[in-house]
Amino acid sequence: MLESRAFVLWLPLSTVLLIIPNLAVAVIPQVGPFLFPRQLDAGMRASVQCAIVSGRPPFEFTWLKDDQKLTEVHGVSIRKIDDFTSNLVIAEVEADSNGNYTCKVSNSAGSDQKSAVLSVKGIFIHPNNEKESG
Ligand SMILES: *[C@@H]1O[C@H](CO)[C@@H](O)[C@H](O)[C@H]1NC(C)=O
Repeated sequence: MLESRAFVLWLPLSTVLLIIPNLAVAVIPQVGPFLFPRQLDAGMRASVQCAIVSGRPPFEFTWLKDDQKLTEVHGVSIRKIDDFTSNLVIAEVEADSNGNYTCKVSNSAGSDQKSAVLSVKGIFIHPNNEKESG
């Protein structure tokens, strides 16, 4: 008798205790900024970390280059360090490495992203050059 009454009280209490942590899970991730070194010569190694400064795991990391999903080819590697950190390494930067790199992080609540531009020293992007004469 006493036991079943205790159970009736325990049930709603346990429901509340289960819901509270789940509300905390619904926190949109916030990604910290990252930068490529300004002095990057061709052949150098570029390594940046995408670190989440707030939000609750599990997260899904996506790296993009100029808004296209980055694939692990030609010395480009992506490694998840822990629940909150993903590491992007370009073993040897070259002209083709130049671009705008974005780390996008999402969880069940939403997503956030940060971007950084990689520009290999001595290789400049002048989008209008082709239109200019002499
Ligand atoms: C890089 O890409 C992001 C995401 O598309 C964009 O918001 C940002 O303006 C871009 N930065 C530059 C310098 O192009």
